[in-house]
Amino acid sequence: MQPITDLQRPVIKTSLPGPKALEIINADAQYVTPSYPRPDYKLVAEKGYGVWIEDPDGNVFLDCNAGVAVCSTGHCHPEIVRAISDQAAELIHLCGTDYYYRHMPALGKKLDDIVPIDGPTKSHFANSGAEAIETALKLAMYHTRRQKFISFFGSFHGRTLGALSLTSSKKAQRLGFMRQALDVVHVPYPNCYQCPFNLGKCSDGTCCMGSVSWIEDRIFNTTTPPEEVAGIVIEVVQGEGGYVPAPPEFIREIRRICDQHGIMMIIDEVQSGMGRTGKMFALDHHAGVKADIVCMAKGIGSGMPIGVCTAKADIMDWHKGAHASTFGGNPVAIAAALKTIELLEGGLVENAREVGAYLEAGLRRLQEKYDCIGDVRGLGMMLGVEFVTDKLSKKPDAELRDRIEMACFERGLIILGCGTSTIRWSPPLILSRENADVALEIFDAAIAASV
Ligand SMILES: Cc1ncc(COP(=O)(O)O)c(C=O)c1O
Repeated sequence: MQPITDLQRPVIKTSLPGPKALEIINADAQYVTPSYPRPDYKLVAEKGYGVWIEDPDGNVFLDCNAGVAVCSTGHCHPEIVRAISDQAAELIHLCGTDYYYRHMPALGKKLDDIVPIDGPTKSHFANSGAEAIETALKLAMYHTRRQKFISFFGSFHGRTLGALSLTSSKKAQRLGFMRQALDVVHVPYPNCYQCPFNLGKCSDGTCCMGSVSWIEDRIFNTTTPPEEVAGIVIEVVQGEGGYVPAPPEFIREIRRICDQHGIMMIIDEVQSGMGRTGKMFALDHHAGVKADIVCMAKGIGSGMPIGVCTAKADIMDWHKGAHASTFGGNPVAIAAALKTIELLEGGLVENAREVGAYLEAGLRRLQEKYDCIGDVRGLGMMLGVEFVTDKLSKKPDAELRDRIEMACFERGLIILGCGTSTIRWSPPLILSRENADVALEIFDAAIAASV
């Protein structure tokens, strides 16, 4: 493996995709499902090291997406590789749903220390974000003996049928699947740059709270009586919907509503968790607000498939056999998760905060330079740049965003769109200031070439 600091800049030596990459893309078109929502540019990975991805033709890219916010410790971090291979040599699988091994209680105990939930917790282990969400939905229904959920427009919680009932960030995710499995009502997500209520109060720095009155004054009095609501499911920083952080006063109000009506506050930290925002969890930015149930996946395993639903111990009160998963909490995946958390606590959360702020400052300078950058927002290394036709109209410019994404790829920078016209920055949390300077320089050149 190459040392992480070996490379300073991307190296593009063939046309993209190169000949070997093209062979793989063609085979993929023949044998792999066409349902994956891949972007216009076609990245084929052969190797990953640190913040770098090498394709089969020897082109090297600077990765500011981290496999969609997953490779939190960077690609193939030597300590993660060691933890995985040591564990694989000892015990790969035994099915924690039927037998015991030390890894499950070890990760449960660690999460009990760090999750933003008051009091003792218990954890259920699965294999993905969607499965962590499914667990939360079933648990909330079971515990409250209620069936309805509230979720937000722009949200993404996964594509299995229960999670899909919550998901609402793009038409393509639901098109063709018709009637949804669960009874979910969607509410506008507070977005102070593109306020869904056009109330014009957001510019003074506080939220208009239209979403809160939508819940309390409208849906609670019409379609969705609060005594029938099992849970409100929220991303504290909306991910696929455009990297939009929720205003603190909104999060506090959701907690109040949940307390008032015995509703479970289910926090989806699948994308925003595990250090990405410069704190271990995005909810940690909201002092005094704690969740009932927290869902994690993506960054927790540095690339190993693991999803976790952690809840207050007295909420996780279901009977033996109520919910389980053959592979969930596999020893190898947990070994990666424990090592990931150790590395996060050992400096990477702090790096996400510090270098994230540095990257954000650079993006704000570009916002001043270009009329097409309407908004720069986010926390730590979870930053969104929204492209608009002009700053006055704030009209989203999705085509420009897509052209910029492609122009970055051609120059060796991997970033990915989200929302209508936003580019998300979700680099590995090991990104250095020097890496950020290179990324910003390429982003600047890509914008200049695309406007
Ligand atoms: C906030 C959030 N929740 C849930 C999911 C679903 O995770 P998975 O793709 O692992 O099922 C995602 C995936 O992007 C996500 O961003």
